[in-house]
Amino acid sequence: MELSGIKSINGYVKIPGDKSISHRSVIIASLVNKPVRIKNFLFSEDCICTIETLKKLGVRIEINDNEVVVYGAGISGLKEPDEILEVVNSGTTIRLISGIIAGNNILSVLSGDHSVNNRPMDRIIKPLNEMGAEVYGRCNNKKAPIIIFGSNTLKGKKFELNISSAQVKSCISLAALHAEGTTEIIQPQVSRDHTERMLEYFESDIDYNGRYTRVNPKKKLKAKDLVIPGDISSALFLIAAAIILKDSHIIIKDIGINPTRSYIIDILKNMGGFINIKNKRIICNEPVGDIEVSSSNLFPANIDTDKIPNIIDEIPALCIAASKADGTTVIKGAGELRYKESDRIKAIASQFKKAGVDIKELKDGLIIRGNKNLKIKGCSLDSLGDHRIAMSLSILSMLSGEKVYISDTDCINTSFPGFDNIFKSIS
Ligand code: S3P
Repeated sequence: MELSGIKSINGYVKIPGDKSISHRSVIIASLVNKPVRIKNFLFSEDCICTIETLKKLGVRIEINDNEVVVYGAGISGLKEPDEILEVVNSGTTIRLISGIIAGNNILSVLSGDHSVNNRPMDRIIKPLNEMGAEVYGRCNNKKAPIIIFGSNTLKGKKFELNISSAQVKSCISLAALHAEGTTEIIQPQVSRDHTERMLEYFESDIDYNGRYTRVNPKKKLKAKDLVIPGDISSALFLIAAAIILKDSHIIIKDIGINPTRSYIIDILKNMGGFINIKNKRIICNEPVGDIEVSSSNLFPANIDTDKIPNIIDEIPALCIAASKADGTTVIKGAGELRYKESDRIKAIASQFKKAGVDIKELKDGLIIRGNKNLKIKGCSLDSLGDHRIAMSLSILSMLSGEKVYISDTDCINTSFPGFDNIFKSIS
């Protein structure tokens, strides 16, 4: 993939569906006992993996003309799989599907690739055990592969979590649909609320506000069709490129602008980014809009906020903008970045430094001394197999007059298939 030749981008663009919402769409639809049709599903490696895992659990899923149709078997209709559930690189698949498996009287073994099997799983193993499932994992119940002995007698519970993770909150909320009594979850900070919004859309008994989520069990969810908005985290790479490149102006259509995901737009606007959200509307209980972006002169930012969970996937793209902002940007409180598809603090610091950015790694963040005249050196960079690092380095390479080689860009298919062609179509 060669994007370093791109010097400006212009035009209208539509990008693939939201990854978080696509995962949830097929998982939650599999709990409905009538067909659910899903439009604009993200056919990326991670989301296809969720479909394949649900099929192994006995859910019939068909793909017709880019539309996914899920024929769910109801709240407790999963079948015991006769093989290991292989989630490859997808943390969302393993954590959310564990939640629905836990309430079914079946035995399942879930495993991923080297990255997933080394990410923390105690954060879901512990609460699911406390609700009455029997869950074990490698490394003293901390890591995958995990084994789940599900139970149809789960009990609702109050959880005061010490991390803010939408995946953990979603895992517990999905298990809570099967549990007897009320489940309450309080997180230290607000995390993305797509599971809550989708459960509400399917008319489950749910209440949520900020850090608080409450789920009551439900025998039946209402079948409704879904349209997935464009992925704001993927859009961010286009936004970052339009901001840092000269003579650029783009409009990205139909993007999810859920407030638990869109804080990055406020940050970039405060940094001087010309960004405008138009045509705001609600689709299937999710806010959607068109995002207009133009070339901008950027100021540095000081990011030490309780909103880090709302920008956790956007920090790699934010670092591109910070590199081109005149002055010092400090990002703190983002220690969770070390537990993503790669240790993203280390990955960003090491690869941006190789490209010539003045960047320093902190325990829980990064310091970037940006420069509005930044030029990237011709060099070889490593994505470390992480899709968001691969995309960030690709955008950074557009600031180079020389060849920038980035290894292992295939991992971009995890979340943004067609990434390079979309850029080429507007350059
Ligand atoms: C996700 C939540 C986030 C995010 C991940 C997707 C989700 O993880 O980093 O890419 O779909 O719920 P955590 O909630 O574990 O921080």
